[in-house]
Amino acid sequence: MCGITGYIGYREAYPIVINGLKRLEYRGYDSAGLMVCDGNAVYLKKTKGKVSDLEEITKEIPKEGTIGIGHTRWATHGVPNDVNSHPHISSSGNLVIVHNGIIENYDTIKKELISRGYDFQSDTDTEVLVNFIEEIKKKEKCKLGKAVQLALTQVVGAYAIAVYDKEKPNEIVVAKLGSPIAIGVGEENEEFFIASDASPFVEYTKNVIYLEDGELAILKKGKEIKVRKIKDDQLVDTNIQKLQLNLDQIEKGGYDHFMLKEIHEQSKAIKDTYRGRMIANEGLIKMSGIDDNLLKFINANRIIIIACGTSWHAGLVAEYLFEDLARIPVEVEYASEFRYRNPVIRTNDVVIAISQSGETADTLAAIKLAKEKGAFVFGICNVVGSSIARETHAGAYTHAGPEIGVASTKAFTTQITVLTLIALKLAQEKGTLSKSAINNYLQTMQQIPNQVDEMLKSDKEIKEIAEVYKNATNCLYLGRGFNFPVALEGALKLKEISYIHAEGYPAAEMKHGPIALIDENMPVFVIATKKGHYEKVVSNIQEIKSRKGKIIAIVTEGDKTVTEIADHVIQIPETEEALTPLLTTIPLQLLSYYIAVMLDKNVDQPRNLAKSVTVE
Ligand code: AGP
Repeated sequence: MCGITGYIGYREAYPIVINGLKRLEYRGYDSAGLMVCDGNAVYLKKTKGKVSDLEEITKEIPKEGTIGIGHTRWATHGVPNDVNSHPHISSSGNLVIVHNGIIENYDTIKKELISRGYDFQSDTDTEVLVNFIEEIKKKEKCKLGKAVQLALTQVVGAYAIAVYDKEKPNEIVVAKLGSPIAIGVGEENEEFFIASDASPFVEYTKNVIYLEDGELAILKKGKEIKVRKIKDDQLVDTNIQKLQLNLDQIEKGGYDHFMLKEIHEQSKAIKDTYRGRMIANEGLIKMSGIDDNLLKFINANRIIIIACGTSWHAGLVAEYLFEDLARIPVEVEYASEFRYRNPVIRTNDVVIAISQSGETADTLAAIKLAKEKGAFVFGICNVVGSSIARETHAGAYTHAGPEIGVASTKAFTTQITVLTLIALKLAQEKGTLSKSAINNYLQTMQQIPNQVDEMLKSDKEIKEIAEVYKNATNCLYLGRGFNFPVALEGALKLKEISYIHAEGYPAAEMKHGPIALIDENMPVFVIATKKGHYEKVVSNIQEIKSRKGKIIAIVTEGDKTVTEIADHVIQIPETEEALTPLLTTIPLQLLSYYIAVMLDKNVDQPRNLAKSVTVE
């Protein structure tokens, strides 16, 4: 899941391409490269490492060129090094390409090209693709657009590409299948911006076209953009949308890291996610995607939730919410397993797909499979106009705003917010909860944003606890009921950004194995909220204590019993048990953040990770 950018127009391309890469660096940061050209000379530089390293080595290149493409890499084929970095050049030196995705049949094509005399510098599938395009262009004596189209009809895999031909210096060809491409359209078609998402060109234009799967576009300065179907060359109507994004949303706003900024944006994000949907003083929940499909949900045999990573944890919280509040059976599936398991989907099954980025390849493929099998698929996404938002039958956006830190935080709490509103809506419609119970939930939810702000004030204690446990090599996270998924999420956050091994478990499950890990060196984070099987959790804490484990407990304010036993406690404000995940998550996010900062880790761009996983 690399990031690609590009520009063709009247401005200097270099600053647009390099700043665009910085904005997309959360997508992959193994290497970076760019090409700029002034219609005659082409300057191409690439390096292992970050965009800042690329900036270093491009200091001397002439900057006048008004055409450019760039790439920041998350390595799939070939180790992160200079030669495997993008852009890649064809053997003749004429074609230049940047690519996000995986060409699965690249090895077969490579062997064929080698038999025709091509040689390769890198181990990448992308270099094979650019040479394949060159071979077709030569053989068919056709233009670049046609050669790209013909080549793409023969490759298997996922791609978002931008291709430039030195022999045709006033155009860039882009194409998409599986990986995202957004095209920014300037006034009078005087300039075009290319990027994996729209963040690189928010300050230049609000006109955006999201290429659909199997589409190709030729961008020529001053010419209206033409989008064609790759398989049959059919012209497609271009659907220009207005971008709902502004610059300050994608800047750090004075915080040291995007992750910390995004943790502190959660109360606003939850409020924005309520807006227009929860009218607490009238006991009303309005959500067009649900309202328009209410019968499908009410008559659903079961709800199947598909997602990956943190979004999967939000799905697990939803299992407890839908079954407890709306009495609808739920199954939560890892999208990557679901798509290859030949799952049984019955009519009246409703599938909910959860994804922050809306671009996760496994979730997208699982959605397509569920649709093929006749299921109604509802999407919960954070990125407007993303592939999953466009692929699902209906949906609801989490209004968390852009989430740039690779470790998901505000997307998780806003996903839980949307899922809680849906569960309450269905409980209301099905009558599984009384009017007063619904009103109580809505009134209580009204307090959550302020309670989150209150939690964020306990920064200092959390920093002190982080200081104590920053050198741990393993950690356990335990929770019961609604907070078991939060324990999983807490462990994932610590793993992702501090690289400390951590596991989340249902508290009672500890006795069936993990308790063997416990000794005086094992920190155990336990969620022990007042109304969440409290007595049972106290026994679990006693079991840990008797094995000298270190206990960091998240308790409800005013707690006594656990506070006496635990080594450290973090209090959360009182709320309904079903709503506690929105609060218990916050201290676990902050703990992992401060531990990672103390260990001097790159919090926003943890090693080996990327913000949206657009390949299998
Ligand atoms: C979470 O912090 C990670 N970035 C990762 O697990 C993420 O949740 C997963 O890749 C799913 O992403 P999505 O929500 O964009 O589909």
